[in-house]
Amino acid sequence: MMQPLPGFRDFLPPSCAARNALFACWRETCRRYGFVEWDGPILEPTELFQKKSGPEIVAQLFNFTDKGGREVTLRPELTPTLARVVATHEREFRKPFKWFSIAQCFRYEKQQRGRLREHFQLNCDILGDASPAAEAELIALAIDLLRAFRFTEKEVVVRLSDREFWTDLLRAHSVPEERWSDLLSVIDKSEREPRDKTAAQLGSVAGPVLEVLDGGGRSEKLEQLVDALRLRGLADFVKIDLSIVRGLAYYTGVVFEVFDRSGTFRAIAGGGRYDNLIGQLSDGAVGLPAVGFAMGDVVLGEMIAAVPAARERMTKLVLNAQALDLYLVIAKEERRPDAVRQLQSLREAGWRVDYPLTPTKVGKQFQIAEAFGAKATLLYGDEWPSVKMKTLATREELLLPNEDLFTHIQRTWSH
Ligand code: HAM
Repeated sequence: MMQPLPGFRDFLPPSCAARNALFACWRETCRRYGFVEWDGPILEPTELFQKKSGPEIVAQLFNFTDKGGREVTLRPELTPTLARVVATHEREFRKPFKWFSIAQCFRYEKQQRGRLREHFQLNCDILGDASPAAEAELIALAIDLLRAFRFTEKEVVVRLSDREFWTDLLRAHSVPEERWSDLLSVIDKSEREPRDKTAAQLGSVAGPVLEVLDGGGRSEKLEQLVDALRLRGLADFVKIDLSIVRGLAYYTGVVFEVFDRSGTFRAIAGGGRYDNLIGQLSDGAVGLPAVGFAMGDVVLGEMIAAVPAARERMTKLVLNAQALDLYLVIAKEERRPDAVRQLQSLREAGWRVDYPLTPTKVGKQFQIAEAFGAKATLLYGDEWPSVKMKTLATREELLLPNEDLFTHIQRTWSH
C-alpha cells in the first residue's frame, strides 16, 4: 500500500472533524478580539525565506525549481508572506491591522513527537502599532485560545523575554554587532545544552550572560507587560524567562513562547515583535512596527489529548459541529417516496438530515442514527400518513400527522 510521505498526515473523518473544531474555535476566539482573517499563497519565491527567516528555517526548506525555472518554496511559516503583503497593501487598510490566518506550513524536519513536515499554524499579528498594548493584546489572545479548550494556568505558561534586553547587554559589553545573531542562538539553545559548552561558546560574555540565565536579570519592560496582563486577570499564565530568544532572525523586541507546565511537550506557540521586517522587505519604503505569534495544531492536539478537560471540550465541539438533527428510518419500503419527499423539504429548511440510501434493517437504521448523534428519528411505516418521531436522548415517542411535522420541529427546535 502507498503511504503518505514521512511527516505528512491523512485526515480521516474523526481527525478532520477535530481539525475543523480546532479551526472553528481559533476563528471564533480571534473574532472576539477584533481580528480579521487573511491568507496568502502556499508557494513563495525561495528568496523570501532565505532573506527573512534566518538560518534555522532555511536549513529546513521544502524547495524546488518549478517548470518556469523559478526557485520556489512551500511556506515554512507565514510571517515573511505577511510582511510582503502588508508592505504592498498597507495604504488600503486602517491601522493598526489585527490580522489572523490559518496556514498549512511545511518544514523538512526530522519527524518526531510534536514535529511533522507539515502542520497548521494559527498566525495572529498586529501591524502598525508600536505600543506595549499590542504585546499585551496578543499574549491575552494566545492565553484565551488555550482557555477556549479549558486549559488553566496550572497546565500552560507563557514565557516572556526580550531580545532588546540581550542586544543591550551585548552592546554594553562591546560585542561587535556581527556576532550578535550567533550569540543569541547560543542563548536560545542554552536550556538544552550543558552549561560548560554554553560558556565556551559565549566566550568573553559568558559571565554576564550566565548570570542572567541563572535568574540575575531584570527587565522593567517585561514587568510592565506582566502588569498589563494582571489588569486582565491573566498574570498567572505568564512568567518572565530571559532564556527565551527564539530561533527566527527577524525579532527585535519582546519574544514569547507558550509551553505546558509539565515540560512534556514542545512549544505550543511562539512569537514576538519584529519592527524591521516590513521596512527591510520594502527597501525602507514602508516602515511598520509589527508583533505577532503562531500556534501550531500538532502540539496543541497532543496537549488536548493528554488533558481530560480539554479532551472533553474537544469531543463536545466535534459532536456539536457534526451531529445530525434527524435520521429518517424507513420501516416500510413503500413509504420510501414519502420519506424522500420530506427529506428534501427538511434539508431545504436548513435541518441536517440523513436516511438509508438502500433498504436496511430497522434496528440497523436506529444504530446509524445513534452513531451520527441524531437528535431524533422519524419513522416512516404503518403509521403513515402519520410519522413517529423519537427523541433519542429521552426515548420519548410522538405520533405526528406528516403535514404537522414541520411546524412541530420548527417550534421545538429553533435553529
Ligand atoms: P515558530 O515558533 O517557528 O514561529 O512556529 C510556531 C509554532 O508552530 C510552534 O510553536 C509549533 O507549535 C508549531 N510548529 C513549528 N514547526 C512545526 C513542525 N515542524 N511541526 C509541528 N508544529 C510545528 C513562527 O513560525 C513565527 N512565524 C510566528 C510568528 C507570527 N511570529 C510573528 N508572527
